[in-house]
Amino acid sequence: MTKSFTQNILPITIVAGIAIGISAFTIHPPKTPARKTIEQRIDSVIAKMTIDDKIGQTAQRGASSRVKGPLPEALKNAVREGRAGSVINVVDIEKVNELQRIAVEESPRHIPLIFARDVIHGFKTIFPIPLGQAATWDPEIVEQGSRIAATEASSNGIRWTFAPMLDIARDARWGRIAESPGEDPYLASLLAKAYVKGFQGDNLSAPNSIAACAKHFAGYGAAEGGRDYNSANIPEQLLRDVYLKPFAAAKDAGIGTFMAAFNDLNGVPSTGNQFLLKGILRNEWKYDGMLVSDWNGVVEMTTHGFARDSSDAAAKAANAGVDMEMASNTYEKNLKELVASGKVSITQLNTLVRDILRLKFRLGLFDNPYTETPDGKVILTDANLAAAKKAVIESTVLLKNDNITLPFAKNVKKIAVIGPLADAPHEQLGTWTFDGDAKDTHTPLTAMQQLYGKDNIFYAPGLNFSRDRGTDGFSKAVKATHDADAIVFFGGEEAILSGEAHSRADIGLPGAQDSLISALHQEGKPIVLVIMAGRPITLGNILNKVDAVLMAWHPGTMGGPAIADMLAGIYTPEGRLPVTWPKTGAQEPLYYNHTNTGRPATKQAYVALDSIPVGAWQSSLGNTSHYLDAGYLPQYPFGYGLSYTMFDYYHLVQDKTVINPGETIQISAEIVNVGERAGTDIVQLYVQQMVGDVVRPVRELKGFKKISLSPRQKQMITFKLTAADLAYHNQQMKLVTDPGIYKVWIGRNSAEGLQGSFEIKEAPVVKEKGRKIKRIVGGKTSTN
Ligand code: NOJ
Repeated sequence: MTKSFTQNILPITIVAGIAIGISAFTIHPPKTPARKTIEQRIDSVIAKMTIDDKIGQTAQRGASSRVKGPLPEALKNAVREGRAGSVINVVDIEKVNELQRIAVEESPRHIPLIFARDVIHGFKTIFPIPLGQAATWDPEIVEQGSRIAATEASSNGIRWTFAPMLDIARDARWGRIAESPGEDPYLASLLAKAYVKGFQGDNLSAPNSIAACAKHFAGYGAAEGGRDYNSANIPEQLLRDVYLKPFAAAKDAGIGTFMAAFNDLNGVPSTGNQFLLKGILRNEWKYDGMLVSDWNGVVEMTTHGFARDSSDAAAKAANAGVDMEMASNTYEKNLKELVASGKVSITQLNTLVRDILRLKFRLGLFDNPYTETPDGKVILTDANLAAAKKAVIESTVLLKNDNITLPFAKNVKKIAVIGPLADAPHEQLGTWTFDGDAKDTHTPLTAMQQLYGKDNIFYAPGLNFSRDRGTDGFSKAVKATHDADAIVFFGGEEAILSGEAHSRADIGLPGAQDSLISALHQEGKPIVLVIMAGRPITLGNILNKVDAVLMAWHPGTMGGPAIADMLAGIYTPEGRLPVTWPKTGAQEPLYYNHTNTGRPATKQAYVALDSIPVGAWQSSLGNTSHYLDAGYLPQYPFGYGLSYTMFDYYHLVQDKTVINPGETIQISAEIVNVGERAGTDIVQLYVQQMVGDVVRPVRELKGFKKISLSPRQKQMITFKLTAADLAYHNQQMKLVTDPGIYKVWIGRNSAEGLQGSFEIKEAPVVKEKGRKIKRIVGGKTSTN
């Protein structure tokens, strides 16, 4: 069927006035006119378009989850009449090709459609949730995962995904932390690049490449109180130094599209935010890709109270540079009149349309609009599943391992498997898995039965689902432990408890999981808690009732085999926390790279609730920044994670202590595997600028390296830093590196490490893209 579609391309491209490719086999090519550039091709398409054709391109149509059954006539007619630029959530290849055929053969300008879908952490082969992928600290596996997702999705006609979500998340209550790259801008920026490379491949026009989308621009992760869609109030300096960094990295990596966020940023909804969308994205960053609204984001500016009505909303979004409107139809209803009245200029409308056509040209859709069925199997292949399993091993964080409970010793032969997530295939896939299927998912229960033998696994879930409050299953669960050598409790959150609009105020284990673990604890057997969740889960006293804790996030299709192998010691968990793990949700927002107060808490200065004498006076306690009842420390710091072996860090060495302009400093440490097993560690480099023009973070991640060492093996790890790596935005919003003293650490996480320091002697020159070169001297700026 797809073959006959391909035959239609020639007349279609001629109608659209497009040059045809030249045979690759011609040895002496005849002199043909030079192939037109994309911009010239856009010119010739746009010259033939009426205003209706142009407005039609700005519309994205489809369904909110999936177009099921036969294609709706209304959708076909809209495409036929040229009233759609993109279609969302049509997934079946026949339907995709049928709609595309209508677009290129029957619509007035024969412009192909782009088919879009949220392919967030896999299409059919589901990888760990993005927060789990961030815990790998491994751009390579992230790139591999998104390449697999692109290959699988594009085989169904999808050429545009709404990923990666690049919102820095500092609040675990926010449901979408699951979809985030974590709290650190440096790690998130590296992962952003990896996602872009994976989704888009080396060449966006290859049939198995899909356009990525940097979302949600910007500040969406700073939703007040962690409540989704809430206002974000972010000072410009913080915006530039933290929240925008991964977006800039994605732009530099050549990402095809951006999505405007739902939230208002400092009072202005992102969808109509000229400062963000024009000032920063287009003017400063020179982004020439496509910009889409979020779902109904344009019309919701009326609910925000930022636009009077749908016409005003359309004008504000169009004038801010939102090219395509997702779901709502304010452009379709109003743009013609807005252009006629001059509220939106025809030049601006042309700019929007040019951006849309540019993406379609970049994707090669004008030349190859149809999806061909791939020759071999591309979905859920053995290689895809193996990569997904590797991603789980790399993402799983060992949080606690008292008495070397893990890996299970050889004499642990019979295991009680308890908990609501031991055999819950849909739940372990996590949020945003439209196309992932429970039937393709391998659960821990089945994997452990295979590994240890069915007769050696005593399964009794105890609870039917994560929020289950019933205690009826407890006695059976306790009984299942009687003949067991160890207990593994699979707990955490069902998929629906994290993700969009699924924020939680109490981020502990839901339902009666705590009580069930307490009951199991009475049995006096080693207990391993395996958490599957979309966020860090506060554990309270439960932490003292289990011997080991593995954080597996929502691990996806291959969660089961990976976890079973890690429990047995066939593999060692390699993940490190990409977010700070709180003791209680009430500590949120909580993140390691905070600035210093004038009264920071320290062990000595910290006053705990129980230690306050009755009748104490305020002045006797000392005043520092902490909670009387929760302290000032997290449960586990950013970057934390144990291994089945142990690593020691020795000999911090610096090649210099003073950096002059243009120089690089090298900082090294020796890492030794002092345990009995091979293992991997993630060696982390942190810096603190001691005095700045604005208060500077107490630590900032500036580098990391993942190393694998066998027992007693040592390795010298060296990081390089230049002045540019230390730059930040000062009060004048200039990117500067100040002279002065900097502390530096090489360590295993953000709370420990070998410490050194260096001085930047003279004001270095820092060049910011699109701006003039500045020399910053003592806070004052002079242009070179
Ligand atoms: C709303 C979400 O915020 C966005 O991330 C997603 O891509 C769109 N819906 C489309 O499903």
